[in-house]
Amino acid sequence: MHDFKEKNMIQEMSKYTNEDHEIWGILFDRQIINLKGKVCRAYFDSLEILSETLNNKVIPDFKNIDKVLLDRTGWSIEVVPGLIEVEPFFTLLAAKRFCSSTWIRKRSQLDYLEEPDMFHDTFGHIPLLVHPQYAEAMRLIGELGVKYIDNPDAIIRLKRLYWFTIEFGLIKGADKVEIYGAGIISSSGETKHIYESEGVEVIPFDIKTIFNTPFNNDEIQWKYFELESMDQFYREVAKLVEEPNVLIEGELVLASS
Ligand SMILES: [Fe+2]
Repeated sequence: MHDFKEKNMIQEMSKYTNEDHEIWGILFDRQIINLKGKVCRAYFDSLEILSETLNNKVIPDFKNIDKVLLDRTGWSIEVVPGLIEVEPFFTLLAAKRFCSSTWIRKRSQLDYLEEPDMFHDTFGHIPLLVHPQYAEAMRLIGELGVKYIDNPDAIIRLKRLYWFTIEFGLIKGADKVEIYGAGIISSSGETKHIYESEGVEVIPFDIKTIFNTPFNNDEIQWKYFELESMDQFYREVAKLVEEPNVLIEGELVLASS
């Protein structure tokens, strides 16, 4: 098991400055306003469950988040230095450990970051981990990644699945499409872009189409996939465990560049 705790990767609350806490609060308040009427109900419900520790007042203490996550779905946070390799990433997901960095962006970076910081990792990703179907779909993606780590095509397909769901997923709402992907939830620009930009394409969720849709991780997205429900997300991922052929065999469209 890859364990970053053994390498002394822990969150040191005393190292955060007043400026860090203030930036957290600015990002938090801004996104709560931006997300109203756009983010899925499950996200706000989950944030409410975590509200004692995940709020606009101070940078959250991961120990307190862990207590709630462990109690609800058995997940916890694994502190990592930043983006990590695919194999440890999937291994940690399979063990219900979600990777988070502990650094927070600077005031000059409120709108754009090249690498995810802890606002993306915690405000964006953590809340829905209290949702049982979402959390289980995430674990299963990890399990599949571990199982097929030596199949490069399967790993590309799983990365695309993760990208178009966990990072940039949309879901059917009462009267319009809603957000559940962490890459959107944590970005004020991407939240507005989906509803305001001309040319954004929202495609009904289809796992084979996702497997053959390359993505570019340093550009704003133009293509999004819309789930019918979280139950659909869980069922589609669970089906890959039972019938993995679609994941491990067949043609694969590669990125053109
Ligand atoms: Fe992310």
